[in-house]
Amino acid sequence: MTQIYPIGGGKGGVGKSFITANLGALLAKWGKKVVLIDLDLGGSNLHTLLGINHQKGGINRFLDKTVKNLGDTAVSTFIQNLSFIGSSLCSMEVANLLHAHKLKIINAIQKLSFDYILLDLGTGTNFNTLDFFLTSNQGIFICTPEPTAIENSFRFIKAVYLRKLKQIVKRQFFNSAVKKAIIPQNHEAMTSPDVIEIMLKHDPDREKFLRNSLSEFKFKFILNQFRKNLDVTMGDKIEDLCNRHFYSNFQFLGTVGYDVRIHDSVLSKKIFTHRYPYTPPAMDMKKIAEKIINNRPWDH
Ligand SMILES: Nc1ncnc2c1ncn2[C@@H]1O[C@H](COP(=O)(O)OP(=O)(O)OP(=O)(O)O)[C@@H](O)[C@H]1O
Ligand SMILES: [Mg+2]
Repeated sequence: MTQIYPIGGGKGGVGKSFITANLGALLAKWGKKVVLIDLDLGGSNLHTLLGINHQKGGINRFLDKTVKNLGDTAVSTFIQNLSFIGSSLCSMEVANLLHAHKLKIINAIQKLSFDYILLDLGTGTNFNTLDFFLTSNQGIFICTPEPTAIENSFRFIKAVYLRKLKQIVKRQFFNSAVKKAIIPQNHEAMTSPDVIEIMLKHDPDREKFLRNSLSEFKFKFILNQFRKNLDVTMGDKIEDLCNRHFYSNFQFLGTVGYDVRIHDSVLSKKIFTHRYPYTPPAMDMKKIAEKIINNRPWDH
């Protein structure tokens, strides 16, 4: 069964692309069929991390109908079982994707046949990023252990959550007071737990349905660039806080240590876990990849 993991986060440069490339490489080395898709439209650079210099074009060929299936744009990487679909040749306008194009990409991703599909997302909370993050119900967000990054992560989670609530309310019959409360709001004006309280108050009959829909979400997160002197319980504390605050499930996958050699591997366009397999960050990512392999969402 195909598993899709969108990888996002509220802040730039936290390591989304780095972790996507390395988790993908580790899963592929364990014999899984993996594809990495660069969905940072307008800011794509995953190909560089993978050491791919010459591209024939990925998502752009699918959108301009040069190829019928998105899968036909996948290219192999130097790691066996690891494929890549790029977006660096997309025109600048594609960064502001048409709604229809976005749905076309999401539908096509859901039809790809791989064991694992990892989506490298752009930074921030624009609708494209949020909708790509909602391609599956087990998105991973990457955060660094700094107050600014944590703050942006909470903003990102709230924005994802609000977007999801809107999707649920639009698709299902809800009391008009609920629709009025949620649909015209902008993301910053209202926090998602507030919205849920409003929904529950105005439409108590739908409470169970809403709770069930939100509990299907199993968000995951990783603390990257973790330094030795930091509180090792930080991830568990964030997990606990999110699980108390939101109506979905949050799982802390682990920390990935800070290492200056990561910068070197990026410069030399080599996948870090491939080049330095026995370093602490590589071991950290192996543990996380193991958790992903052992994650069986269909058992929940
Ligand atoms: N664990 C780490 N230790 C040291 N440096 C790291 C680590 N993780 C990432 N980096 C550095 O941070 C840089 C940014 O990483 P990356 O490009 O993956 O971030 P990103 O979140 O994808 O950024 P963007 O928002 O621009 O897409 C990398 O080039 C790498 O040098
Ligand atoms: Mg990136």
